[in-house]
Amino acid sequence: MKGIISSFLCLVLFSLAKADVPSPSHTYNVTLPEPNAPYVAGQMLPISYTLPDDANLPNLLSLSVLFTTQDPSLNFTDIIITSNADISQGFSFRRTHNTEVYYEHQLSYAIPNKTLAGNYIVLFVDSISKSNTSVPITVRPYAAPVTTLSTNPNKPHPSSSGGSIFAYHGNGVQAAHETVNWTLASGLLGLLLVAYNTV
Ligand SMILES: *[C@@H]1O[C@H](CO)[C@@H](O)[C@H](O)[C@H]1NC(C)=O
Ligand SMILES: *[C@@H]1O[C@H](CO)[C@@H](O)[C@H](O)[C@H]1NC(C)=O
Ligand SMILES: *[C@@H]1O[C@H](CO)[C@@H](O)[C@H](O)[C@H]1NC(C)=O
Ligand SMILES: *[C@@H]1O[C@H](CO)[C@@H](O)[C@H](O)[C@H]1NC(C)=O
Ligand SMILES: *[C@@H]1O[C@H](CO)[C@@H](O)[C@H](O)[C@H]1NC(C)=O
Repeated sequence: MKGIISSFLCLVLFSLAKADVPSPSHTYNVTLPEPNAPYVAGQMLPISYTLPDDANLPNLLSLSVLFTTQDPSLNFTDIIITSNADISQGFSFRRTHNTEVYYEHQLSYAIPNKTLAGNYIVLFVDSISKSNTSVPITVRPYAAPVTTLSTNPNKPHPSSSGGSIFAYHGNGVQAAHETVNWTLASGLLGLLLVAYNTV
């Protein structure tokens, strides 16, 4: 039973972790946001990174995450998403790939509504190795939620928070398979972890 749950867990996790951007220091990989993917002002920007199984990691890595841009025309002041990203190696962050153990952490950042459309960077700064990992993303303009209350009360309303915010890739190829339902996935993951612990 545990075997079945484990393999299903792996399946869920590996469908979540796709784009891997390694850090120069080899002390973490960025798995989200996806490089060059479009995100939308006013919606959530998913951030995820993986850590090696290394008890010495706190001495090797001290991670901040910034939201920034190299385009001065965007008149954008850097935003610190976190100045002390979680690098703990607790059970709930533990993942295995074949026999290799690693740890995965997730954050989500609400892109401010007033963010101008353009090219931005999610910058991971390690103050110990003094090296950075930058993931370029595109921000699309904020779109106010459509209000359809009076016309069809049964129709679900588009939500501006949570859920998937992938639209399509810069190259125009539809990427529906990479759409991740985080609500569903995290719920599923919770259930699986509970099941795993009680078997
Ligand atoms: C990071 O990615 C490299 C390959 O790009 C892989 O060898 C390594 O195991 C990954 N580390 C973690 C912690 O995910
Ligand atoms: C840039 O942003 C600042 C503060 O948000 C604002 O005061 C200033 O007018 C903006 N400049 C331009 C050129 O939009
Ligand atoms: C941003 O947009 C959301 C959804 O329309 C709204 O709930 C929120 O109040 C807006 N925030 C600001 C600062 O305008
Ligand atoms: C990393 O980014 C920070 C913040 O933008 C910057 O101050 C620092 O010079 C960068 N370091 C490297 C090695 O690029
Ligand atoms: C994600 O799944 C949840 C639960 O099934 C559902 O309520 C929600 O609408 C889904 N969100 C998206 C963006 O598909």
